Amino acid sequence: MSELTVDQAIIAQDLTKKFGTFSAVNNISFMVSRGECFGLLGPNGAGKTSIARMIFGFSPITSGTLRVLDQDIRISARQVKARLGVVAQEDNLDPELTVLENLMVYANYFRLPRNVARERAEEILQFMDLTEKADAVVDELSGGLKRRLTLGRALINQPELLILDEPTTGLDPYARHMVWHRLRQLKENGTTMLLTTHYLEEARQLCDRLIVLNRGTILEQGKPAALITKHVGAFALEIGVEPGLHGQLLSWGSPWLKASQRIGNDLILYSDQGQELAENLGLKIAKDHLRIGYQRLRPTNLEDVFLKLTGETLQGSEDETEG
Ligand SMILES: Nc1ncnc2c1ncn2[C@@H]1O[C@H](COP(=O)(O)OP(=O)(O)OP(=O)(O)O)[C@@H](O)[C@H]1O
Ligand SMILES: [Mg+2]
Repeated sequence: MSELTVDQAIIAQDLTKKFGTFSAVNNISFMVSRGECFGLLGPNGAGKTSIARMIFGFSPITSGTLRVLDQDIRISARQVKARLGVVAQEDNLDPELTVLENLMVYANYFRLPRNVARERAEEILQFMDLTEKADAVVDELSGGLKRRLTLGRALINQPELLILDEPTTGLDPYARHMVWHRLRQLKENGTTMLLTTHYLEEARQLCDRLIVLNRGTILEQGKPAALITKHVGAFALEIGVEPGLHGQLLSWGSPWLKASQRIGNDLILYSDQGQELAENLGLKIAKDHLRIGYQRLRPTNLEDVFLKLTGETLQGSEDETEG
């Protein structure tokens, strides 16, 4: 066990979280290597926050084992917490204090000497582009600025492992990209990250590996690109056509198809040979005078993988993400 654990920041084995009889997290196992950015991806209610909270010692595990930074979280939550940075999903800043005071008070929990705390706080303000807001009262900040402060605050103890529960929800596109950039910098400096998100672009941009969760269970795990290759291939051909014609199109497309998905009047055909698929189908459609609403060829993404795995979309993710 010990040889293995040295390289692993998190080892979850048969991890379960129950609320009464309801299993929010159902017997899941995964490992997060040191230096890695690991994603928990899934729709509302998938169990992402429940997992994050067990990892940062906020919520007791119901069964299974959970080792975080080489320690059993049930036994050593206190020691582990000192080495973690946490961005919880719900904002828990002190609204009556200023930005700088929030950082200073938080530094106090870690018993940082005042001069060290002050120095780090100033670095963090700069890093998160908040210097101008140092003396603003948190209550008067916009949601996006609060989010940035929450992220900055999580860095005050120079954590080895950052737990980020939807770090960019509520941020405008500019701020989201800024945060992504900062997270990449932290990763380059060796910080391990566990990140929950339902933004697929965020997962693709930041995560080395991820698990796709739904209703407390793991549907898949792997590298984003590998999951796309495995399940849907490189291209999606979207065709708007009445469902009665779906069978015909599927049969024509079959030599090139990797997978397909029907959503109402939309048929999505997945293939590694998107151009060939589109051209060949186009010829047949023209020859048979099929009435097609629209046709669009595009590269695939994690949304397609999720759709394929669950038959559901990750609600709202498409229009809210930024490329
Ligand atoms: N304290 C609680 N008591 C009872 N049920 C809970 C509690 N916390 C979470 N749940 C339930 O557990 C399930 C998983 O919730 P969780 O918050 O982990 O999901 P999530 O993936 O973080 O969702 P979201 O994307 O909305 O944040 C949900 O069905 C939720 O209603
Ligand atoms: Mg959540």
